[in-house]
Amino acid sequence: MSWPDWIPLRTSLQSMSAYGAPQVPAEAVLNTNENPYPPSPELQAQITQAISQIVGTLNRYPDRDAVILRSALASYINERSQTNFGSENIWAANGSNEIIQSLFLACGSGVALGFTPSYSMHALISNVAGTTWINGERNSNFTFNSEIAVEQVEKLKPTLTFITTPNNPTGDAVPLAEIETLARAVAMHGGLLIVDEAYAEFSPEESAVSLIQAFPHIVVIRTMSKAFAFAGARVGYLVADLHIVNAMMLVRLPYHLSAITQAAAKVALDFRTELLGNVSQLVAARQELVKALNDLGLTTVPSAANFILFTGFKATSPQLWAALLEKGVLIRDVGLSSYLRVTVGNEAENKVFLEALTELL
Ligand SMILES: Cc1ncc(COP(=O)(O)O)c(C=O)c1O
Repeated sequence: MSWPDWIPLRTSLQSMSAYGAPQVPAEAVLNTNENPYPPSPELQAQITQAISQIVGTLNRYPDRDAVILRSALASYINERSQTNFGSENIWAANGSNEIIQSLFLACGSGVALGFTPSYSMHALISNVAGTTWINGERNSNFTFNSEIAVEQVEKLKPTLTFITTPNNPTGDAVPLAEIETLARAVAMHGGLLIVDEAYAEFSPEESAVSLIQAFPHIVVIRTMSKAFAFAGARVGYLVADLHIVNAMMLVRLPYHLSAITQAAAKVALDFRTELLGNVSQLVAARQELVKALNDLGLTTVPSAANFILFTGFKATSPQLWAALLEKGVLIRDVGLSSYLRVTVGNEAENKVFLEALTELL
């Protein structure tokens, strides 16, 4: 894009493009790894009630430190990982993208490394923040390789090293022992190891939160957008040593998390048993979808998340993507030649997707 001279846009931004997963109407929307299940009528009613209780105080700023929500998030993490975190170990923001941005603002003074292909926003936010981003390597089958990763960390000595598990867009999850190996390598030269666990609830692997006590330079990023089916509410958080949380307070905007968001998220956490039940259903649907794709002669990358990367079709990725859209199915061309990524949807969406794909292959 060319920019008019009168905008004093920073030079580093001039060649960049905005993040832009297409938002177009489709019968099956399977492109942004959302959870297909809307909030149940009971959850909707409780959220509405919680918001109606605070609506009369919206003339006041919200709790700047979101302490009630952060305590509830700490309890949730402790329950799942048998840890002992308090609100001082949690920072919450408008989606985990804002968490990533805050980490760059606070600690992005050197080089940042991530093992790609991975979540594209890590590199994009790094560039926006003025941190040099380096694309590290994975195995040719896209799996994470801790030996290669350690070599890259030792060579580049990044201030921020990113690992995404399960990884987006490939879906593979990294065993805890390998994260620990990487954490040791990062500890040797200083810097933070950022473990992006946006899809953790879909994975059988143990969360890296259990490593934080031994390795205080590990920061785990989580989100309510996926397992909690709460993408529209925008709630992400990190789990870390309290000094990291204190650093987040230096860069956060005052009152960044609205009172409405805080109240709604607290209710969604109270409904975790119901919401995480839907996660088990999605994991089962993922297995069925993998089988159906394999039966169509396609190759799938093993996934521990709520999406599947697949290949083995004759058309190019943009061609098949466009042909599916014409049939009402929106999936994602993640820019990997001859691969496409599909999010696991509800039963009807998965059926529409498979029928459309069968016709096109
Ligand atoms: C790996 C990963 N991290 C973070 C995010 C951002 O999630 P949100 O900002 O909705 O919390 C996503 C979204 O797709 C993701 O795939």
